[in-house]
Amino acid sequence: MLQFVLALLAGLGLLAWGVTQFVQTTAQNWFARDVSLRARLVVTGARASLASHWNKEHRRELRKQLSEITRDERVMAAAACTLDFSRLTATPDFPDGFGCQEVGDHMQSPTGTPEAPLQEWNSVNRLPAGSVAVSAIPLWDDGLEVGFVVLLQDLSYAERREDATTKFLLAAFGVVALLAALVTLAIARLSRQAWSAELRKALRGDRTQRPEFQPILRDVRELVERMIEDTGDTSGAWTAERLKQTLRRNLRGERVVILANREPYVHNREPDGSIRVLHPASGLVTALEPVLRACSGVWIAHGSGTADRDTVDRSDRVRVPPGEESYYIRRVWLSQQEEDGYYYGFSNEGLWPLCHLSHARPLFRSEDWIEYQLVNERFADAVAAEVDSDDPIVLVQDYHFALAPALIRERLPAATVIMFWHIPWPNSERFGICPWRNQILEGLLGSSILGFHTQFHCNNFFDSVDCYLEARIDHEQHGVIRQGHPTLVRPYPISLEWPVRWLESAPSQPECREQVWRELQLKPDALLGVGVDRLDYTKGVEERLLAVETLLERFPQFIGRFTFVQLAAPSRTKIDRYRELNELVEQLAARINVRFGSGSYRPIILRRFHHEPPDVFRYYRAAHVCYVSSLHDGMNLVAKEFVAARDDLRGVLLLSQFTGAARELTEALIVNPYDLEEVSTALATALRMPAEEQAIRLRSMRTLLSHFNVYRWAGEMLSDAARLRSHERLTGRLLEGAAAE
Ligand code: G6P
Repeated sequence: MLQFVLALLAGLGLLAWGVTQFVQTTAQNWFARDVSLRARLVVTGARASLASHWNKEHRRELRKQLSEITRDERVMAAAACTLDFSRLTATPDFPDGFGCQEVGDHMQSPTGTPEAPLQEWNSVNRLPAGSVAVSAIPLWDDGLEVGFVVLLQDLSYAERREDATTKFLLAAFGVVALLAALVTLAIARLSRQAWSAELRKALRGDRTQRPEFQPILRDVRELVERMIEDTGDTSGAWTAERLKQTLRRNLRGERVVILANREPYVHNREPDGSIRVLHPASGLVTALEPVLRACSGVWIAHGSGTADRDTVDRSDRVRVPPGEESYYIRRVWLSQQEEDGYYYGFSNEGLWPLCHLSHARPLFRSEDWIEYQLVNERFADAVAAEVDSDDPIVLVQDYHFALAPALIRERLPAATVIMFWHIPWPNSERFGICPWRNQILEGLLGSSILGFHTQFHCNNFFDSVDCYLEARIDHEQHGVIRQGHPTLVRPYPISLEWPVRWLESAPSQPECREQVWRELQLKPDALLGVGVDRLDYTKGVEERLLAVETLLERFPQFIGRFTFVQLAAPSRTKIDRYRELNELVEQLAARINVRFGSGSYRPIILRRFHHEPPDVFRYYRAAHVCYVSSLHDGMNLVAKEFVAARDDLRGVLLLSQFTGAARELTEALIVNPYDLEEVSTALATALRMPAEEQAIRLRSMRTLLSHFNVYRWAGEMLSDAARLRSHERLTGRLLEGAAAE
C-alpha cells in the first residue's frame, strides 16, 4: 500500500513539474509578444512627432519625445538610432553598453544587402537585476526609412507573475496529491477490511459469493492441514478425533476395512459355561484396535475363540468393543486343516522364522503353502463381501496375508490396498530361501501402499524385488512398478494410542506397587524388574533370564533384593519350537532360583499365563526396571507401553538394539541382549539410577510417544492413500475426458 501511495505521489510530482514548465514557457511567450506589440504601438503613436525631430539639431526635442514615451511605467528607457547605427539621442537612464550598432546588426535583413529595409527586432535580456525586453522598431517618414527607436521594457513584473503562478500550481498539486493519497488509503483500508471479513467468513466455512476466493481458500486449507500434520506441537497432535476427521475429509467417509488374522476381542467359554472376553497378547491388536475404534468399519479376522461362534449374528459379525460397539468384527471360520497349514505351518513355521534373525530354521512344506494360498483366497472373498463400494480402503495386516493384496485387487480393481508388514523383512539372500518367494513378492505388490516399521526393512524389500522379480524400482518415489501397477513402499513406525486407555482406570503407582508386592510376596525394600511377552523365541526370554543370573553373579549386593518377574503369555504352543521354549524357560528359571534363591526369595518369577492389559499395566507401574530383550523385532510395543505406563516418571527401560523401537526410544538403556555382561551392567545401572535421570529419560520418551502415536501412524498411511486416490481419480477423469474428445 505504502509503495502505491509513494508511486502516486511521485507521479503527481512529475506531472506538477511538467505542468509548471509548460505554464512558464507559455507565459513567457505571451509576455514577449505582449511587450513587442506594445513597443510597436508606442513608436507608431509617436511616429509623427519623432520623425519631425529626427535630426541632430532637434536632439533636445527628440529626447523630450523619447522621455514622453518612457512615462509608461513599464518602458524604462528609449534611444533613437540613425540608419548608420549611431545614437542620435537617448533618455538619461538608457544604459551606455547598449549601442545602436549591436541592435542595428540584428535588424538587418538576413539576405545581408545594405539597401534592404531594417526589420523589427525583439529580444529578452536576462540581467542580474531582472529581465529586460529590448525592442527595436524601424521609423519611417513619408515612405522613407529614417532610423529606429530602441525601447527597453521592464519584464520583472512578468517574472513575478510567473513565480506566483508556479507556486500556486505547485501548492495546488500538493493539495491534490495529498487528497488523492488520503482517499486512496481510505478506500484501500475499507476494501481490505471488507475483503478480509469476507475471507474470514469463508474460511470459517460460510458460503461466499466471491469466486475469486476459491483458489485462496483451497490453498489456505491445504497449508493449514499440512502445518497441522507436520508440526509436532500439541495443538497439531494426532488424536482419535483428528484421525476421524482426516478420514472424513480425505476419504469422503468411506468405511475402513481391516484384514488381520488375530481378532481384537476373543470370546472364550469358561469351565462354568460363562463367556469371557479376552484381549489377545498381540502388538498388532494393541496398535490397531484404537484405530478402528476411531474410524468405525469392520475388522475381518479368524474366529479363534471357543465361544466365538456363539456370539456372532447370522452374517458372522459381532459388534465391539463390548458396551461401546463402535465397529464390528467379521469372523472367518477355519477348519483344523486350514489353521494348521496356513497359521501354524506356513505363517508361523515358515515366514515367521524366515523374517526374524533368531536362529530358528524355517520349515517350508508344500501342503502348508497350499493351505496358505486357499485361506488367503477365503479372506479376500470375505473382504469383497464386506466392502460397501467398488473402491474401498482395505488395510491388510501382516505376514499371514502376503497374497491377499493381489487377490483383493483381482476382486476389486479400484480398491486402495494398504498392506502393513508388522515383522522385519530379511535381507534378499535370506528371503531367497523361501521356495515361493516370487509369489509372495507378487502378492504384496498387489497393494497400493506397503508399509514397514523402518527404512531398513523397506530397503531389504527393494533388494528382494530387485533380485527375484521383473519390476522397476523407483527410488525417488519410494515405489515399485510391476506390470504397470505402482506400489509405494514406505516406513510407518507403529505406536500406541495416546493416552493409553488402560491408564485411565489404573491404580496409583504406590497402589500398584503395594498390590504387586503382595502378589509376589516381595520384601518392602525389594527391587523389581519386569518382562512382558508372548512366549516366543524371538523375544530373547532365555537371554533375559541369563542376564539376570549374570547380574547376581557380578553384583552380589542384589542377591536377596532383586527379583525379575516375567509375564509370559503362552503362544502358538502347537508348534514344537514354542513348546520347547516353554520347557527351556521353565528349567532356566528353576535353575537360577535354586542357585540364588533362599527362603521365600526367588530371583525369577515366571507367570506363564495370559494377563489382561490392566494387569500388565499394574506390573509396569510397580516395577523399577522393564527389560525388552528381543533378538529381532519389527517394533515391539511392550517397550512403548512401559514408557506410557510411567506417568510418575519413575522406572528405567532396558531395550534391545535389535528392535524397531530402539530407533525411537533412544533414552532407554540400549543393549545387545546376547552380551550378558553388558546387559547385567546396564541392569545394575538402572537399579541405581537417580530419580532425576529416570525422569529426564522418561519425559523425553513420553513426549515422543505422545506425538508419534498410533493415530499418526494410521493418519499418515491414510493420508498417503487419500493422495493416491485423488491422483487416481484425477487421472481417471482425464482419461475419460480424453476418450470423450
Ligand atoms: C506378532 C505378529 C502379529 C500377531 C502377534 C501375536 O506381533 O506380528 O501378527 O498377531 O505376534 O501372535 P498370534 O500368533 O498369537 O496372533
